[in-house]
Amino acid sequence: MKNTKNFHASWSSRWTFILAAAGSAVGLGNIWKFPYIAGENGGGAFVIVYILCIVIIALPIMVAEVTLGRMGKKSPVNTIRDLIQSSDAHKSFNIIGWMGVSAGLLILSYYAVIAGWALSYIEHMISGTFHNINAENAGLIFDNLLKNKNELIFWQSLFMLMTVIVVIFGINKGLGLAAQILMPLLFILLIGLLIFGYQQGDLAKAFSFLFGFNFESLSWKAVLVALGHAFFTLSIGMGAMMTYGVYMPADSRVFSNVLMVGILDTLVALIAGLVIFSIVFVNPSIESSAGPGLMFVSLPVAFGNMLGGLIFGTIFFVLVTLAAWSSSISLIEPAIAYLIESRKCTRLMASLALGFIAWIIGLGSVFSFNIWAEEKIAGFNFFELIDFITANIMLPLSGLLVAILIGWKIKSKMVEDQLLSDSPRLFFAWKWAIKFVSPLAVIVVLVMGIYPRLV
Ligand code: PHE
Repeated sequence: MKNTKNFHASWSSRWTFILAAAGSAVGLGNIWKFPYIAGENGGGAFVIVYILCIVIIALPIMVAEVTLGRMGKKSPVNTIRDLIQSSDAHKSFNIIGWMGVSAGLLILSYYAVIAGWALSYIEHMISGTFHNINAENAGLIFDNLLKNKNELIFWQSLFMLMTVIVVIFGINKGLGLAAQILMPLLFILLIGLLIFGYQQGDLAKAFSFLFGFNFESLSWKAVLVALGHAFFTLSIGMGAMMTYGVYMPADSRVFSNVLMVGILDTLVALIAGLVIFSIVFVNPSIESSAGPGLMFVSLPVAFGNMLGGLIFGTIFFVLVTLAAWSSSISLIEPAIAYLIESRKCTRLMASLALGFIAWIIGLGSVFSFNIWAEEKIAGFNFFELIDFITANIMLPLSGLLVAILIGWKIKSKMVEDQLLSDSPRLFFAWKWAIKFVSPLAVIVVLVMGIYPRLV
């Protein structure tokens, strides 16, 4: 009897973590962003570097973040502060918490804009706009959406409101769970689309585009984008995973849980990439380097031309919205938790204030697609700039500091207590990665990726 009970307790809490963490990790990053940045950076080599970044840099840092959360049991800002105190680390490590909170809000600002596109596509699907559509017309519909700033603001505001409402009521566990029950459905739909890609698109070409070794075309900037995306897609470098680490009971298995989230996340991204490129390669009017609109131009062509496509298309964009929703709450929650813990703010006030700030900043991204399209700083429009600074600089930098803090500053005994019993072998491999491999790799990529832009 006792055994059954133990088994059940650890099973359910194990899944609470995996579901919450996967809810945060699987989002627009996988379905919208990964395919288009892979396309912009030439496919093949980029994808391999991205997978390497996931395995040797991002997963060890994810283990580190989850472990910090389990040790600190507070919002990221205060968890880091407590751990710095108890380990006599330099005060400057506090920047991890602050940078995380700011990165979260900045990412949310444009995340809501893109999720807004998905919302508007639900409407298009339902109203049948995409019935029998070709790639040219799908492109036109997308361009028209981008030109219409009032419509963009409407959908952006709606998504921001959805996010704020969930965090006000603090029902993110509920949403996480709901989203995760629906996530397998998203997965099944993606597989269905893959079959469509195989039958009607050019899956073989998509495959060799994504997995071919074309290392000549790989630049340091592409490596930096791959690294940044490894952080972005796993939701690390901004405190979200620290928050979810708190859910984990003392005896649960960090390594295998983190690995599970990593595998799920990568699979969704790769399948989405295969689907989208198999459609792109049979429609000459869609460029593989089409940028942020890639998914919104290619998938309507697929849905518009398959049996029952408008129904599947509607379900698909609903699921994408849900996946984005369960990620967006984890972008804002660390900041809210901090305001409540340390500034004596009510949850209601904190959620409204932060949602409003992210919404205002997001207007800059809305305008990047129309009235500010030509306004560039260092070659980036506002949306690209925010995306570049957060994903490619802030997240890796904060991950680097997390690695140094846990690898070099916090007492080994404390870290061993959390991880050693899980698997001594994995623990030593991880320790080596977090002390040397991850920090060095992040430093090299950051320096090589950013330096040429500065000189
Ligand atoms: N991982 C999410 C995605 O891939 C985005 C995200 C980043 C969420 C950072 C939380 C924290 O869409």
